[in-house]
Amino acid sequence: MHRLGFIGTGTLAQAVIGGLETTDAGRMQILLSPRSETVSTALAAAYPNVRRAESSVEVVEESDILFLGMRPHQLDEAVASLPFRESHIVVSFLAGASIEKILPTVHPARNVVRVNPLPPIRFRKGPVVLYPANPLIEELFAGIGDLIVVDKESDLHAIGIASALMSSHYELQNRQIGWLVAEGMPVPAAAAYIRSMYDGLAEVTLQALKVGEPVIPQHHETKGGLNERGRAQLLEAGWFDEAISALDIIKDHASGLTRRS
Ligand SMILES: NC(=O)c1ccc[n+]([C@@H]2O[C@H](COP(=O)([O-])OP(=O)(O)OC[C@H]3O[C@@H](n4cnc5c(N)ncnc54)[C@H](OP(=O)(O)O)[C@@H]3O)[C@@H](O)[C@H]2O)c1
Repeated sequence: MHRLGFIGTGTLAQAVIGGLETTDAGRMQILLSPRSETVSTALAAAYPNVRRAESSVEVVEESDILFLGMRPHQLDEAVASLPFRESHIVVSFLAGASIEKILPTVHPARNVVRVNPLPPIRFRKGPVVLYPANPLIEELFAGIGDLIVVDKESDLHAIGIASALMSSHYELQNRQIGWLVAEGMPVPAAAAYIRSMYDGLAEVTLQALKVGEPVIPQHHETKGGLNERGRAQLLEAGWFDEAISALDIIKDHASGLTRRS
């Protein structure tokens, strides 16, 4: 049994712990730093194996695997003077913070693994990207999402950029729901329809992935039908090109943020 410790227990760490609690980790000791008072107190109340520590020092002393869940600019202050050991495995959720940047802050620990989960991990869904490969950490996350072990650190950066259209996805869903409501449908039925539709579509793409098949839009529309008309309209308007241009702009924005941190 490993002892898990979290320093920085915000939105993401809360979702990760929710997912881990559905696995064998639900029987492991999980110690939380006392900051993030609302979240850490709620987690300790919800799960018997989770405890809110007196200090981050206690978390580091009493854990074998340490999760860093603060924001990148909070890292230095959060880990300053903590008693890391060479034997610690440090799992960093910090988007944009390289292993090279983290290593000196957790000295003498040398084993740093970057893990990039997303909030749906609490429902055992969504990607969990990991670098570098680490059998112990892979085992910990196995079954709570789709584990993707990348073979170079720069892939994590690219994935972070590509993920920045997540809130736009919700925007699109809400616009479609709003359109249905404007057409006279009640909100609950409109929301249930659109959200369930996207859930079903996502399942189709995951099943195709399992058998190694691409998802070809033309195979999911009727010749001369409504979907064909809709996609043609958006293609003509440059809508998809615009989404890809947005990724390039987000990439530049991310470089600026990294330079400032
Ligand atoms: N949210 C996502 O979808 C997502 C996805 C992938 C990666 N990430 C990465 O995950 C990290 C956390 O993101 P988040 O959205 O969970 O942020 P968040 O909700 O702001 O959580 C950060 C937590 O760190 C705590 N903290 C700050 N300084 C601390 C210190 N000195 N000692 C101990 N704890 C301290 C904060 O506590 P207080 O509340 O007391 O200030 C806060 O609860 C980020 O680095 C982000 O890049 C997030």
